[in-house]
Amino acid sequence: MMRLAILLAALLVAKRAVAAPVEFQAAPGAVSLLRSFAVNSSSSASLPPSEDPFYHFPDDLDTYGNGTIIRSRPVNTSFAAVANSSYQLFYRTTSAVGNASAALTTVFSPRAPVSPPQIMLLMAPIDSASPDCQVGYALESGTGSNATTLLPSIAADIVASLSKGWYVSVPDHEGAEAAFISGVTSAFAGIDGLRAALNSSDLFSNTTGYKAVIHGYSGGADAASWATQFLPTYGQGLQVVGASFGGTPVRLLPTLELLSNGSASFLAVSALAGLGNAYSELDAWYNSSLTTAGQDAFALARSQCAEGLASLNNINVFDLFTNGSAALNETVPQKYLALEQLGQPLDNTSAPVNTSGLLPVPVFMYHSETDGTVSYAPVPAYVDDQCARGANLTFANTTGLAHAQTYIAYEGDVYQFLAAAFDGSLNTTGGCTRQSGIVNAFGSPGYIREIGLAAWTLLASAGANVRRRSYGW
Ligand SMILES: *[C@@H]1O[C@H](CO)[C@@H](O)[C@H](O)[C@H]1NC(C)=O
Ligand SMILES: *[C@@H]1O[C@H](CO)[C@@H](O)[C@H](O)[C@H]1NC(C)=O
Ligand SMILES: *[C@@H]1O[C@H](CO)[C@@H](O)[C@H](O)[C@H]1NC(C)=O
Ligand SMILES: *[C@@H]1O[C@H](CO)[C@@H](O)[C@H](O)[C@H]1NC(C)=O
Ligand SMILES: *[C@@H]1O[C@H](CO)[C@@H](O)[C@H](O)[C@H]1NC(C)=O
Ligand SMILES: *[C@@H]1O[C@H](CO)[C@@H](O)[C@H](O)[C@H]1NC(C)=O
Ligand SMILES: *[C@@H]1O[C@H](CO)[C@@H](O)[C@H](O)[C@H]1NC(C)=O
Ligand SMILES: *[C@@H]1O[C@H](CO)[C@@H](O)[C@H](O)[C@H]1NC(C)=O
Ligand SMILES: *[C@@H]1O[C@H](CO)[C@@H](O)[C@H](O)[C@H]1NC(C)=O
Ligand SMILES: *[C@@H]1O[C@H](CO)[C@@H](O)[C@H](O)[C@H]1NC(C)=O
Ligand SMILES: *[C@@H]1O[C@H](CO)[C@@H](O)[C@H](O)[C@H]1NC(C)=O
Ligand SMILES: *[C@@H]1O[C@H](CO)[C@@H](O)[C@H](O)[C@H]1NC(C)=O
Repeated sequence: MMRLAILLAALLVAKRAVAAPVEFQAAPGAVSLLRSFAVNSSSSASLPPSEDPFYHFPDDLDTYGNGTIIRSRPVNTSFAAVANSSYQLFYRTTSAVGNASAALTTVFSPRAPVSPPQIMLLMAPIDSASPDCQVGYALESGTGSNATTLLPSIAADIVASLSKGWYVSVPDHEGAEAAFISGVTSAFAGIDGLRAALNSSDLFSNTTGYKAVIHGYSGGADAASWATQFLPTYGQGLQVVGASFGGTPVRLLPTLELLSNGSASFLAVSALAGLGNAYSELDAWYNSSLTTAGQDAFALARSQCAEGLASLNNINVFDLFTNGSAALNETVPQKYLALEQLGQPLDNTSAPVNTSGLLPVPVFMYHSETDGTVSYAPVPAYVDDQCARGANLTFANTTGLAHAQTYIAYEGDVYQFLAAAFDGSLNTTGGCTRQSGIVNAFGSPGYIREIGLAAWTLLASAGANVRRRSYGW
């Protein structure tokens, strides 16, 4: 769930690292490309989502099919140098409780597209319970979005994908309610963010034979993993050939416990607030169970981006409830904490459509045992369960790397896997593979080859730039 402040933080050696198997260094003489990914204030400012008519639901929203485009607009982004064009699509989707809803995705076309098209559904670590901190608004140049650390956490993925000739769709997968950490919300809004891209005649004249992959880290991995397990039901018909996700919150409670009292405890508040945005029953329980300070903290998390939530760091999150840590053992929160368990079967009393919880396409999953943000503890059992059920899963683990570092450290392995998924060159024996460590080490020729020179140049320059900035986590 970490909004990886990351490009940066990732390039610093973790203070508490047990060991440092990967040496993070900025490439010598790297160009300061990161500057061009800062918010571009030279184009005209547009309104925040909560005020922008582009985001209004049409009266007849019910009549739109899932994934149908409601509105489309070209958009200026910081990626003009690597994209042929970029658009924002506002599309029909379905909320976690089955109501008609709508969300926005920002889509990019490559300069030299592969044919038939290859598309990445890129799930960003949005990590916010505020509708004005979503990734689409942050991607649009000159908007004044406060979510300034969100762009560096996905810039390398956008550049790497475009430079390989892949299209990219970056949905506001938390949906209109900013339902951070709601797996069902992100699965549906994410899947429809792919459908909307495929439906865009601005982007494609011919999608016959297209293939898609899904990728995300941290909060983005939550969305990517849930979207992947819903492919056979909600995502039926989509030609998704693989997925990768890392730093995945497999279960919510261990991660809340890990975050509480720590330097990123705001994430735990945002996650709880976001889940309440999806489910009114949970939100009503909050209203009767939070202390006054807790009410204020939740209101803050719903009105400010991560950058404005420093006052929620280093706090005990459970103390925000009148009954302290016992509060989350009550029936209503238990129901929703149980719902957020990745991989379990859900029938249509828990979600608008069912899922078996089994990963239906080849997946590359990765996690550091020393991740201090998203708990590693429940991950091995999830992997064992998927493997026992026949998933085609490659699971890689490492140790000594912090959360943000792990994202960068595995990018070479991620792109090697996703490219093989597109090419149909994955090992077709099927089944599970457990990999200890990293194949394509940061900065190695293999790493640079897999992510491409443009993304490498960006990462390397980010290293130089980012060292000067401190995010505290
Ligand atoms: C910022 O926007 C201006 C005007 O749209 C454009 O000329 C410039 O190239 C943009 N800068 C970057 C870094 O994208
Ligand atoms: C959208 O998906 C939901 C959940 O599968 C379904 O109930 C609904 O009928 C779909 N909407 C349309 C217009 O097909
Ligand atoms: C993009 O930037 C150019 C140059 O500033 C401007 O003319 C154009 O209107 C902008 N397009 C959008 C959609 O904002
Ligand atoms: C690039 O974008 C333009 C419109 O901006 C479009 O006419 C053209 O077909 C696109 N090229 C590719 C290769 O997609
Ligand atoms: C969802 O739809 C139901 C019935 O159509 C309605 O009662 C409820 O208020 C809706 N929920 C939201 C969050 O809009
Ligand atoms: C669309 O793409 C497919 C696969 O590349 C190709 O076989 C087909 O001829 C194309 N159709 C049109 C109308 O260009
Ligand atoms: C495009 O929108 C239609 C509804 O108009 C929807 O049924 C379809 O699934 C979407 N296309 C794709 C490729 O998903
Ligand atoms: C953005 O930052 C400004 C200035 O601190 C603040 O007034 C505003 O409420 C913030 N908005 C969000 C959504 O974070
Ligand atoms: C909450 O329940 C768990 C078992 O489900 C138990 O281990 C824990 O002690 C309980 N916490 C409190 C504060 O009652
Ligand atoms: C990865 O997990 C296995 C257990 O499945 C463990 O034996 C191994 O030490 C771990 N490797 C690393 C690098 O953490
Ligand atoms: C494919 O996977 C199987 C089982 O893990 C392994 O024995 C085999 O060596 C792999 N083949 C290749 C070409 O990697
Ligand atoms: C795993 O791959 C094998 C071989 O390609 C395939 O038969 C099987 O259905 C796959 N399993 C899942 C859960 O997709």
